[in-house]
Amino acid sequence: MNPVGDARMGDRRLLRVVYTAEAIRRRVEEMGREIGAAYAPGDDILVLGLLKGSFIFIADLVRRIPIPIQVDFLAASSYGKQRVSSGEVRLVYNPEASMEGRHVILVEDIVDSGTTLKRLMPLLHERRPASLEICTLLHKRVAELEWPVRWVGFDAPGDFLVGYGLDFAEDFRHLPYIGSI
Ligand code: IMP
Ligand code: MG
Repeated sequence: MNPVGDARMGDRRLLRVVYTAEAIRRRVEEMGREIGAAYAPGDDILVLGLLKGSFIFIADLVRRIPIPIQVDFLAASSYGKQRVSSGEVRLVYNPEASMEGRHVILVEDIVDSGTTLKRLMPLLHERRPASLEICTLLHKRVAELEWPVRWVGFDAPGDFLVGYGLDFAEDFRHLPYIGSI
């Protein structure tokens, strides 16, 4: 039997839980507070979620940010059905929201090779935000990034993680916890 093949069919027994729903909830609450404390009153803040992986994280995170913000999304795709990055990043949805003069926070689910950020950050800088910060739930700490990641939820193991928005070939996004396959 091929465990990955079975796991792809949605068999939860093959997942090892890495972060429980409760651990995630506690950390996201802290991150929301940290983000709220980092800006001055009156700052015009745009939280920009990178789809699809960040959709659950961003929904939980923005409800924990205790200051006024706006929310938009962008979509990039880098991994087809493989578990290693193809190195190619496509912007499949480009946000309409103006970024000029605004404080933009790019929200990622996980930073792995860093390819997605390397490709996206120059594009976002071109839109002349007042500041541009990166917030990620998980960081595998393998990438050498020229862009510092300001907020990190957890330093993640090298395993392939799924759940809480993260997928393997579109499966497992709906799990309330994060597991490895
Ligand atoms: P990077 O471009 O290699 O840094 O990878 C960024 C994107 O790849 C993330 O936003 C995820 O969508 C996806 N990714 C990277 N590692 C994992 C993983 O362990 N599980 C699920 N998706 C991942
Ligand atoms: Mg993905």
